[in-house]
Amino acid sequence: MEFDDREVSPELMEDIEEVSDELKLRPATLDEYIGQGAILSNLRVFIQAAKNREEALDHVLFAGPPGLGKTTLAHVIAREMGVSLKSTSGPVIERGGDLAAIVSNLEEGDVLFIDEIHRLNRAVQEILYPAMEDYEIDIVLGQGPAARALKFNLPQFTLVGATTREGLLSAPFRGRFGYVAVLDFYSPEELAAIVRRSATVLGVELDDDAALMLASRSRGTPRIANRLLRRVRDFAEVEGDGRVTVIGVDAALRRLDVDARGLDKMDRRILGTLVERFNGGPVGIDALAAAISEERSTLEDVYEPYLLQQGFLVRTRQGRIATRLAYTHLGRPLPSGQAGLF
Ligand code: ADE
Repeated sequence: MEFDDREVSPELMEDIEEVSDELKLRPATLDEYIGQGAILSNLRVFIQAAKNREEALDHVLFAGPPGLGKTTLAHVIAREMGVSLKSTSGPVIERGGDLAAIVSNLEEGDVLFIDEIHRLNRAVQEILYPAMEDYEIDIVLGQGPAARALKFNLPQFTLVGATTREGLLSAPFRGRFGYVAVLDFYSPEELAAIVRRSATVLGVELDDDAALMLASRSRGTPRIANRLLRRVRDFAEVEGDGRVTVIGVDAALRRLDVDARGLDKMDRRILGTLVERFNGGPVGIDALAAAISEERSTLEDVYEPYLLQQGFLVRTRQGRIATRLAYTHLGRPLPSGQAGLF
């Protein structure tokens, strides 16, 4: 069973240096965290209240697209509560026994972080219910007439779940979290502050207007902003004098195929396919996913949220529709006779 105290995801495994940079760039405390203002001020209250009562913090669920800080916030919570964090993920916990092994390692007040919590199977979810509610775990050993039910008491702990698909959690599961926070995309100003902080941590000289340009082309996502900062720094160090300027950012992003609105190749491919192959839609998500050879879940979780938020796409009962903004952004003429175009 995989059980690790840091996030391990394919995007972060590209290269060891990037992994350690990524960890260095994460804010460790609430005071260092930029953005998500309403969520942060709520967490501050809940953390302070739990500390005053000398109790574990109630369970927290973070929902939202990848790269917005769900894992980071789990670590911030553990740090602010002064407890350890144990981390795992939904698909890794296959059976009740896997979960039992994890929770039996927890100490009083610890944070148990479960990434991709919507991918926990139902049997494991049901073992988690009494663990969350009464800090008890019931497991069945053996099978048939010889089966025995065992009940264990657990220390008080805080489950922090992260999901890109809040809608896939059952109502009873969702209802067992004391606080559900849905993270939103960051504003360009917040992202500019984040990349300025990252530049300081990495020792990169970054002009303010360059920070804002980078920020406005990062799909509202700190992980993307920080990744672009590292790439732009590479260009600046190898082909320039190391300083990141607005001209440098513009040239580097062009070479990385990131356009003026921050859309990458895949974003443009999605919009282009919708416009060309499906006449602008409406088209069902499965047909669109098949046409671009992507998993439906990747399209829904990773790409679509930003395109929807920025108004390039709309989702209707009949399917996805490209908006006027999508046509103009792709430089295509608006279709004639579509008075109802969004
Ligand atoms: N690095 C990544 N996300 C961040 C955030 N929200 N605040 C500060 N630094 C960050």
